[in-house]
Amino acid sequence: MRVYFDYNATTPLAPDVIEIVARASREIFGNASSVHRFGQQAKAMLDDARSSVAALVGGDTSEVVFTSGGTESDNFALRGAAEALEPAGRRHLIASAIEHEAVLNTLRALARRHWQVTLLPVDASGVVSPDRLRESITADTAIVSVMHANNEIGTIQPVAALAEIAHAHGALMHTDAVQSAGKVPLDVRALGVDLLSLSAHKFNGPKGAGALWIKRGTRLQPTMTGGKHERNRRAGTENVPAIAGLGVAAQLAAEKTGADATRIAALRDRLEQQILATVPGTAVNGVRDGRVPNTTNISFDRVEAESLLIALDLEGIAVSTGSACSSGTLEPSHVLKAMGFNAHRTQNSIRFSLGAANTEAEIDRVIAVLPAIVEKLRSLTRTPARA
Ligand SMILES: Cc1ncc(COP(=O)(O)O)c(C=O)c1O
Repeated sequence: MRVYFDYNATTPLAPDVIEIVARASREIFGNASSVHRFGQQAKAMLDDARSSVAALVGGDTSEVVFTSGGTESDNFALRGAAEALEPAGRRHLIASAIEHEAVLNTLRALARRHWQVTLLPVDASGVVSPDRLRESITADTAIVSVMHANNEIGTIQPVAALAEIAHAHGALMHTDAVQSAGKVPLDVRALGVDLLSLSAHKFNGPKGAGALWIKRGTRLQPTMTGGKHERNRRAGTENVPAIAGLGVAAQLAAEKTGADATRIAALRDRLEQQILATVPGTAVNGVRDGRVPNTTNISFDRVEAESLLIALDLEGIAVSTGSACSSGTLEPSHVLKAMGFNAHRTQNSIRFSLGAANTEAEIDRVIAVLPAIVEKLRSLTRTPARA
C-alpha cells in the first residue's frame, strides 16, 4: 500500500483535467492571439477557463490573468503593485512572517531596492492578529499581503479584517490563496481583497498554470513585458492545454469543495487524534479550529523530522516536513519559528496533508506503523526530552 499525505505539496490531476489537457494538446494548437479559426478555437478555450476561475473566486472574467502558477502570481501582485504605487510615494510593504517563500523572497528582493518591509509576527496559534497590522501600517504602505491559508500548518488568516485595515490606510490587499482554493470556498468580494493568487496544481490541475485575480480598476505594472496578451497585463503566448486544465480543475473545485471538505476533515481529525493518543510526546502545531480541512502539523518530541519522513517513506507513506521547497534540507521551518517555537520543535514537526483519494484504511496503516517508528528513532537519539 502506498499512501500519499502530501496534497499541500501537489495533487494528482483529476481525470477530467487529463482529458481536457490531452484534447487541447491534440486538437487545439492555434495561437490564442491569431485572428483565424485556429486561433479563435484556442481563445475559446482560454475564455472557458477564465469563466471557471472567475466563478471559483466569485470574481468577474475580466479580472482573471493567467500566470505560470502561484509563484508568478505572488511576484506579479507584489512587484506589480510596488512599481505602480512607487510614484505616489508609497514605499512600504507589509506581509506576515508565515508567508510562502514566493512572497517572502519577493519582498526581500524589493527590500534590496530600498523598499521598506515589515513582517507581521504571529503567536503560537499561527494566526496573524489584525492589531499587529494596525500597529505597523502607515500612510506609506503600498500593499499588505497575508495568505488565506498557511501551507505548513493550514491556519486560515482573518483576511477580510486585514483588508479593511489596509484599505482604511489607502493600501492594496493581496492574499495568496494557493492553499485554500479547492479546500474552502473562496469569495473575493467577501474577503475584500484587491489581488488573489491561485495555482492549479494544488487543486488537481496541471503544474505551471495559475492565475492572479485583479480587482477591476487596480493598477499593476506588468512584470512580464512583451506582447499584448492578457489585456496587456501578462505578456507571453498562453499555454492553452495547461490553462484549459486549470479551468476544469477550477470547475471541479467549485463543485466539490464543500462535500469533500467534510469527509477529508473527518479523516484528518481521526489521524490527528490517533497520533496524539498512540504516540507519546506529540502536539499539534497551531490552532485546531480555523484550519483548512486537510492539514495537520504535528511535532514529535525527541525525533528529527527528516528521519521520520524517510522512515515513513520506507513504509510507503509520503508526508512532508513543511514547505516542499525546503524539504531535502535541514532548514528549520520559518513558519514554526515565527510562531515562537524553539529550535527543536521547528525541526521535529511533520505535515500530513490529505486529499480526496485518502481512505480510513490508509489512516489505520499509518497508526499501525508510526508508534514503533517513533520509538525506534527515539531509542537511537540521546537528545533529552524538551518542553
Ligand atoms: C502558499 C503558497 N504560495 C505559493 C506557492 C507556489 O506555487 P507554485 O508551486 O504554483 O509556484 C505555494 C506552493 O507550495 C504555496 O503553498
